Order: sequence, then C-alpha cells, then structure tokens
Amino acid sequence: MQDTVAVVNGLCLVGNEFVKANVLLENGVIKEVTKRELKADEVLDARKCLVLPGFFNSHTHVAMTLLRCAVEDVPLMEWLKTVWSIESKMKEKDVYVGAKLGIAEMIKSGVTCFSDQYFHMDGVARAVEESGIRAVLGYGMIDMESEEKREKELREAESFINEWNGRCNRITLSVDPHSPYTCSKDLLLISARMAEEYGLPVHIHVAETQDEVRIVREKTGKTPVEYLDELGIFNYRTVAAHCVWLSDDEIKLLARRGVSVAHCPVSNLKLGSGIAKVAEMVKEGVNVCLGTDGAASNNSLSVLGEMKFAALLQKFRLSPAAIKALDVLKMATENGYSAYGLRGGKIEVGYLADLVVLKKSLSYTPLYNPVYSVVYSSYGFEVRDLIVDGKILMNDGKLRTMDEESLLDEAESASLRLQEGFSRPKV
Ligand code: NI
Repeated sequence: MQDTVAVVNGLCLVGNEFVKANVLLENGVIKEVTKRELKADEVLDARKCLVLPGFFNSHTHVAMTLLRCAVEDVPLMEWLKTVWSIESKMKEKDVYVGAKLGIAEMIKSGVTCFSDQYFHMDGVARAVEESGIRAVLGYGMIDMESEEKREKELREAESFINEWNGRCNRITLSVDPHSPYTCSKDLLLISARMAEEYGLPVHIHVAETQDEVRIVREKTGKTPVEYLDELGIFNYRTVAAHCVWLSDDEIKLLARRGVSVAHCPVSNLKLGSGIAKVAEMVKEGVNVCLGTDGAASNNSLSVLGEMKFAALLQKFRLSPAAIKALDVLKMATENGYSAYGLRGGKIEVGYLADLVVLKKSLSYTPLYNPVYSVVYSSYGFEVRDLIVDGKILMNDGKLRTMDEESLLDEAESASLRLQEGFSRPKV
C-alpha cells in the first residue's frame, strides 16, 4: 500500500477555474477533489498557494544542460559546429549527469513530466528512475542516407525500447526519427512500422527552419508535413516539434490527422528560426503543447518561461487578443500529457497525481485572476512544492530525491572534461 498525500487549503485549478479545494492522492492518481477535510500520511498545507497540474516540457534534449552557454552570440553554423563537437565527446555518464542537472532544474521550476530525444538514453532513463520525475523517452535516430548508420540507429532505438519497456511506471517510450531532413525515407518508413508494432508515440522535429523546408522540397517535391503524412508517420500518436514554417493547409492537415505540435518559442527565437503560427493552430483545433528544446538553445528548461513567450509572440504577430492565457496554461499542462497519451495534466479524479504548488508571492499580488498571474507574472521563485506519481519530490523549495550541491560539482567537472580543446567563450 502506497502512502497517501493530501494537498489542502489551496486554490486549485479545477476545470477552467481556480476554486478552494482539498486534493487526495493515492496509488499515483488523484483519488478525491473535495471541500471536506482530508486525512493522509502526509499533508501539505497549501494555504495562500495555487495548486495546479504540473507543467509538461513536451520537447527537450535534457542532457544538453552540459552545453549551456558553451557557445553564444555566433552565427548558426558556427554554433552548431561547436555543439556537435562537444556532443561527440559525450559518454553515457555525461548524459546521466546532464540529465540529472536538467531534471533538478525542471522539478524546481514546476515541471512534472518531460519528453526527451537524445542519445545514450540509458543515462536519461536512469536519471528519471532515480529522481522520481515522469518522462517520455526516445532514442533520436539520424542516418543521413547511410544504410550502415540506419541499421545501427535502429538497433540502438530498439534495444532502448526493449531495455526499458515496462521497467519504470513513470517512463513512457517513444519512437524518435530526428527529422525529415536528417532521416532517409527508409528510416522514416521503418520508424512508422516500429511505432505501430510497439504501440508507441512518434516524436519528431518538423519544419523548424526555412532551410529544412527547402531541403525536403528539393529531395521529395513536397513540404515536410506532406512528405511525413505520405510515409505514414502521422498514422500514430505523433508529436511534431517546432512546426515554425507551415502553410494554412498543413495546419489543417495536422488538425485532421490528430498530430500534436510541441511549440518551442524561445529556441525558435534564439536560433533565428521564426515564429510558429500558434494562434492559427489553436483555431484549427491542433493540440499545441510547449517545449523548451535543449538548454543550449534556450537556455533554461522552464515551461513557465515558455508560456509567457508563447503568449507574447502571438500578441506581437497578430493582436493582444490573439491568444488567451487559459489556452496557454493548457498548452503547458493537459495538452502535453494528452499529446503523448497520458491521463494527466488536470486536477480531476483518476488523473495522474502530478501537481505543482505555487506560492502567492510578490509577483502574484494582487491576485485578480490566478490564470493571468501564472502565465504573465511568474518568475519561477513561486514554485514551492512538486508532486509526481503521488510522491513529493520537492517541499518548500527543497529537493527530496536529489542532492543539489553535489549535482553542481558533478555537472561542472563533466562540462570541463567535455570542453577540453575549446577555449571558454569570450564576453
Ligand atoms: Ni529539438
């Protein structure tokens, strides 16, 4: 019998509104949402706090925390060259340390679940297992038209799936062909078959840059979305990251095919990729969720930060009324969970017991409407407690499952080893 946790006296987001309620968590799910008094093994008093479903970081490469600020303020090709050469030195132990660093950061900023695509994924999975966070994990496959590489990548992806299938209840697996321009047609076709065979979601980068659209068009005569649809990639539960360069017809196609879009506004701005047509996607009924992308192109893993950027960019593009705060809050919570087929992201009986408690602090005062406060006024210091799978991972700002101090030293020494041969960036 698992311990029970009650979060009491808080202002809870139930449906579309914040109401005073007590929440009982048992066996990893929400057992009761009530006004009555609750007893539990551990009770969190959320008086003067907001209680929300935890945030979902729907597209990241968490171990890239080790590359954060390694190279900045240079043109894209120069940036990529440095990032790739550091990545080529990364071993599984580095990915493990980088993942732990990123997970600790995410827990502290209110993230209860993330979707990750990278290499040495055993390192990420171990960090997830130990830390108590929830994740969707897939090995990122790239073959660049080489048959030998394709076979190697498929073996890696499959052995990761077989290794972790059913091993940890908080880990969901995914099939991750990197993108339509780094994967051959064969690799994409096999990925689609793999998703069907294992019954897993597909997580892929799509239409991130104008260059990508040009390359795919030259190779196939089609746009990335048309091409992937033709190959059957959208026949399953698919999450397409970025989708910056889409036509109106492609947005309609994604909506029709039930493809979710992981919008990564900060990364798109930092790499100069562009601004996705999120308001139009929402209007057409596309399930849009939010991602930070890797820390090298963000530089944080804060979904709170993405919420504000996501809202501001649409207001800048169209008008201040183009997107509503409540829609953005849903992108950060329930849309991420449903994109990957998880019953979470809502404070409702039977949903996953993944919650965040935010303090009504300076930035939320006065509190006219908590939805506006969370989306537009958050810094991150408001995050007080975090619960995943019914377990308290952070209480009053202190991590329970990770040692923050030793993590800093571990990550610093891993990054020094990786940066050998590179000069520290000048400012
Ligand atoms: Ni990415």
